[in-house]
Amino acid sequence: MDSSQKHLQFKEKLAAIGQEHILAFYDGLNDESKADLLDQISRLDLERTPDWVDNYVKNAHSMEIPPEIDPATSYPCAPCEGSQSEYAKAREIGEKLLSEGKVGAFVVAGGQGTRLGFDGPKGDFPVSPIKGKTLFRIFGETILAASIKYGAPLPWYVMTSPLNNAATVESFEKNAYFGLKKEDVFIFQQGTLPNFDFDGNILLSAKDTIAKSPDGHGGSLKALFDSGAIADMQNRGVEYISYFQVDNPLINIFSPLFIGFHAVSGSEMSSRALIKSHPKEKIGNFCIVEGKMTVIEYSDLPDEYAEKCNADGSLIFELGSIAIHLISRSFVEDLNRDGFALPIHRAVKKIPYIDATGAIVDPDEPNGVKLETFVFDALPLAERSVILQTLRQEEFAPVKNAEGDDSPAVTRDMMIERAASWLEKAGVTVPRLGGIVDCVIEMAPSFALCVEDIEAKLDEIPELKAGGEYYLK
Ligand code: UTP
Repeated sequence: MDSSQKHLQFKEKLAAIGQEHILAFYDGLNDESKADLLDQISRLDLERTPDWVDNYVKNAHSMEIPPEIDPATSYPCAPCEGSQSEYAKAREIGEKLLSEGKVGAFVVAGGQGTRLGFDGPKGDFPVSPIKGKTLFRIFGETILAASIKYGAPLPWYVMTSPLNNAATVESFEKNAYFGLKKEDVFIFQQGTLPNFDFDGNILLSAKDTIAKSPDGHGGSLKALFDSGAIADMQNRGVEYISYFQVDNPLINIFSPLFIGFHAVSGSEMSSRALIKSHPKEKIGNFCIVEGKMTVIEYSDLPDEYAEKCNADGSLIFELGSIAIHLISRSFVEDLNRDGFALPIHRAVKKIPYIDATGAIVDPDEPNGVKLETFVFDALPLAERSVILQTLRQEEFAPVKNAEGDDSPAVTRDMMIERAASWLEKAGVTVPRLGGIVDCVIEMAPSFALCVEDIEAKLDEIPELKAGGEYYLK
């Protein structure tokens, strides 16, 4: 089909769903821009667009509250009386899988990081307390240290978006892949979804460009497959995908215990969870709906559930989601082979666009809707799913905002506190003032990935003095 036929065909299809305005400037474009715009249109999901417009753009789709919601069960962080051997076995299996190179690291780094307001991929944001290591560097060094520890190359899959892919690739190249072999790092892009004004019209960001944004971290499950990352895993014998977010430097990427529980239980998608600090903490709630693991967002869980307590005062719905998952490669293969669609979520945003005259408008107030999907919405699609609890101070310090909660300052303090607590557990004395660590400690992943690693290196640790600065590598 030549380009004028294609143009006509798209024009008809777009007119049928009230979106023909995206071709308004077509006739005035040069040939290259014309082809580019037609290509963008060919990638739109025109069949589903009317449903998105009706249910998510013009109206805020509210989640139907299921008639029955039960709390999910979980493995506590540490074994209770009688379950020590189950935990020991899971850890052993996790370690074996790691030593066989059957686990890959997977960071989703396609977000726009608007709240942090950092100019560049969020993974390039410096967070470590002394060396100012970036998030990407911390993950890269962790993966390298784990590969050495377990004696097997553990590959790293990095999802970017069209908005930050080039900058991310440049960062990896400039930093020599953070010590990893280039062939052990697989960088790929997620998909996008068009942006709409409140009347449901797809916006243009230029005369030849549809305004688009990344399709959410849920897009990873399709992008892993479409990009060839899953095929790469298959070639390498990687069976388990350790999923984490780019903003959390405390992530324990290769937890043998978590990997072991996931594998032993035959789970398709597993999660780490925190005990929530209060009923309406702004994280998702792990629930069971119609027999399936389901995350219900804090804003959607009715108060009567959120506030329900056990006799001892603990919350019944106590498990909060922190976006750490293990996903079986076969689960991603099955989803993509059979076809799947995750629910759509809407976000009201300020979206720069061009108006009907072709002038660029940079709005001061939210003017439209971006659509995205969430990875935890794949949990109900899994046949089996387990949860292993973790402690906030051990594994969750996301950098989200420039100031206040979840800001770099909080993350830095939590990195120091975790390093200190690991040292103390290994028998090292750490100076504290009123309970707060009274020195600056940064522990490189090459020094220790867990407390046990420190125990083998006690003679390398200097005496820690109040006010001192200690980089352990
Ligand atoms: P957030 O929900 O924090 O969104 O993403 P964000 O886009 O990074 O930041 P804000 O909301 O604009 O401030 C959580 C994780 O999911 C990834 C992010 O990179 C981060 O690791 N993500 C998010 C994607 O990979 N793709 C997306 O489309 C959205």
